[in-house]
Amino acid sequence: MAQPRYTFTQRLLHWLIAVLVFALLCSGTLFWTLGSEGIANLLGEDFAGTLVTTHKSVGATVLLLTLLRLVLRRRSPAPAYEPPISKLEQFVGGALHVLLYIALIAVTVGAAVAVVSAGYPLEFFGLSLELPLAENPALAQTLFGYHGLGALAIFVLVVIHTAAGIKHWRLKDGVMTRISLP
Ligand code: HEM
Repeated sequence: MAQPRYTFTQRLLHWLIAVLVFALLCSGTLFWTLGSEGIANLLGEDFAGTLVTTHKSVGATVLLLTLLRLVLRRRSPAPAYEPPISKLEQFVGGALHVLLYIALIAVTVGAAVAVVSAGYPLEFFGLSLELPLAENPALAQTLFGYHGLGALAIFVLVVIHTAAGIKHWRLKDGVMTRISLP
């Protein structure tokens, strides 16, 4: 019997978001370890500026693609496991997926509110969006702190999720086929 799979669009979105989240975690780690000034000193002002605007644009893209993915998920629910996996594994895997969705949305929305509260425009690949929200530096500082913690949570969830994916790939139990592209 053929392995039931997520639709092609869902599978494409999964891997596109995964690549973008990986890029965000890498650039975020650079900001966290060196700071904008450190990056500017090391790689130049232009590079540092481009990295910040690209990080913001890619974050907004991840948010939009994740929302699109949830809409598609409502239309085409997750396929059945064939062969079945244990109820416990389904529950743990499902809970991890829900946490990943929540974390991706919370971290990107929180970052957008932090950027606006800090008095900066929202940026999306050359487009600049000014929201009619009052500047609130204290809120911005708090939210940027949570942004780092949220990104760390995403990193931990992604590591656990990837380890589970690799386990299923090695077991050849069909779970990876549900989400793989070809
Ligand atoms: C940033 C990276 C990633 C994110 C944010 C992510 C997120 C997700 C989410 C939210 C789902 C649930 C889909 C749904 O039911 O709506 C999922 C499914 C899945 N992912 Fe990932 N993923 C990432 C990377 C990976 C990697 C690297 C692997 C493999 C090594 C992987 C393997 C899988 C598998 C096998 C499923 C299907 C699980 C099942 O049907 O029970 N993912 N992923």
